[in-house]
Amino acid sequence: MTEPGNTRGTAYGDDDAGAGSTPWALRATADPDTFRAAMGRVTGSVTVVTTRHENRPWGMTVSAFSSVCLEPPTVLVCVNQNSVTAEGIHRDSRFGVNLLSQDQVPVSQLCSRLGAVKFIEDHVVDDTDLPAEVDSPVLRDSLVTFDCEVAEVRPVGSHLVVLGQVRAILAPRSRRPLLFGQGTYQKGAHIAAMTEAVA
Ligand SMILES: Cc1cc2nc3c(=O)[nH]c(=O)nc-3n(C[C@H](O)[C@H](O)[C@H](O)COP(=O)(O)O)c2cc1C
Repeated sequence: MTEPGNTRGTAYGDDDAGAGSTPWALRATADPDTFRAAMGRVTGSVTVVTTRHENRPWGMTVSAFSSVCLEPPTVLVCVNQNSVTAEGIHRDSRFGVNLLSQDQVPVSQLCSRLGAVKFIEDHVVDDTDLPAEVDSPVLRDSLVTFDCEVAEVRPVGSHLVVLGQVRAILAPRSRRPLLFGQGTYQKGAHIAAMTEAVA
């Protein structure tokens, strides 16, 4: 929803110097630049939303992903209204959400290039290796893929909030999750392991 901009900064552990001197805190007006910079401080998981374009698999990197409810199993993603992906979602009423692992940085980079061609044939599981009921393109090496049917679409400003009812879930094996925050790709670490390293 708030795509990364010039928020690049230091990763974990580098707090702002001078506790208490936080001018942002005084900014009562939520202008877009302040909002973008504030959202840049959120670290979270990364997905690639998959659709079809010209009958070929297509992907777009999306961090605005959430589960909504268990019954019926529902997720949401927020995608720019002008994206090829939004067009595919409108047309087919289907989309996939692939939760990325640390092995998938290249496909995340490919699928986040504004205006670039984002065909993903080289990264998807062959149709013949998927259960017949799976409709959306599935990315190899994902932590999990949700194959969704559009339940509701709500435009909000520049974006569409897309609710998807989950029709199939593929989670072949556990992998290390990819994170994005402070304008860069990151990997998490167990707090317990970090504490042991310091002790
Ligand atoms: C880590 C990351 C997260 C992103 N999250 C979103 C998002 O949640 N929604 C969105 O519309 N764009 C998001 N973007 C930007 C889109 O990936 C990018 O603008 C998109 O691929 C452009 O597609 P288009 O060329 O079809 O317009 C994100 C980019 C990155 C690098």
